[in-house]
Amino acid sequence: SDGPVILGIESTCDETAAAVVRGTTLVSNIVASSMEEHARYGGVIPEIASRAHAEAFVPVVSRALADANMDLSDIDAIAVSAGPGLAGCLAVGVSGAKSLAWAANKPIYGINHVIGHVSVTQLQFGALPENTMALIVSGGHTSLLHIDDIARSIEVVGTTLDDAAGECFDKVARLLGFPYPGGPHIDRHARLGDPTALKVPMGLTQGRAGAEHPYDFSFSGVKTAVARWVEGRRADGKDIPVDDVCASLAQSVASVLSRKAIDACRSRGSDTLIVGGGFSANSQLREHLAEAGREAGVDVRIPEIKLCTDNGAMVAMLGSNLVTAGVAPSSPDFPIDSAMP
Ligand code: KG4
Ligand code: ZN
Repeated sequence: SDGPVILGIESTCDETAAAVVRGTTLVSNIVASSMEEHARYGGVIPEIASRAHAEAFVPVVSRALADANMDLSDIDAIAVSAGPGLAGCLAVGVSGAKSLAWAANKPIYGINHVIGHVSVTQLQFGALPENTMALIVSGGHTSLLHIDDIARSIEVVGTTLDDAAGECFDKVARLLGFPYPGGPHIDRHARLGDPTALKVPMGLTQGRAGAEHPYDFSFSGVKTAVARWVEGRRADGKDIPVDDVCASLAQSVASVLSRKAIDACRSRGSDTLIVGGGFSANSQLREHLAEAGREAGVDVRIPEIKLCTDNGAMVAMLGSNLVTAGVAPSSPDFPIDSAMP
């Protein structure tokens, strides 16, 4: 297809990734992960992740260019995640990307990683319809976004007030003895269990002060309730019905995510819901969303898993949207922002 050729670079957490996108076509996509190095610590260790980025940066970018049969001179612009994420990790990717832009005299765009998770769906489903809702869920984010114009106008409809959904799964998984990241283990066991076995509170909140944000989430109480129940049984010397614990947790989290996402679509008259982030691999969430979407007449777009987890294609695709919309590049001294809203 036509359109700008963008090199996208991603280093917000434990994936070092680079991709080339032309217009809305994915040309190459390379991901290196330091996940295995973190497994024995039960979570991502920022120092280890930053070192891994420093090692992987040049090989990953070179492979993305080589797979595209390109060198830097063929690129129209570079896009890089400037936040949110781990500061040390962002610093490696952004410094690397700035150096490439400077050396090759190319424009550079520091982009918002979470919006990249929305943008990437265009590679699979085509252009975003007007008035689109997006649910982005991972170990680091749980956001409901309303998109009028991906390059210029995005509204935060709701977010988590504490733990992200994936983080909640990972913490319960750790308690049950599963290795990090535990989300996929919970998913697998949940399919075998009884979702009504435990009373797990819903990750509902009344919304922030003034009730102007009824679409926020809160998962820390969910995690605590499950932890108390499991610890109580252990203290009583009873064994833990792991499948039932997983099924009850998954049911609670998946139903609140899908219910609020569909409610948000209704409130804005959106008939498209985009879903992204690593947690969208979750089978309970997929089932709940498919059913709720069918009932509400909402087209639920969940891309293939490799586009849902952190990657360079999402960054390049958003860069392509920005260039196409005529948005000015970032200045060469643009900051990283680990808490980017
Ligand atoms: O987007 P991602 O790869 O990394 C970030 O957190 O940014 O998402 C990883 C998160 C982890 O919390 C992992 O446990 C969770 O997504 N996850 C799952 C599943 N696959 C990945 N959680 C539940 N069910 C799954 N099938
Ligand atoms: Zn992410």
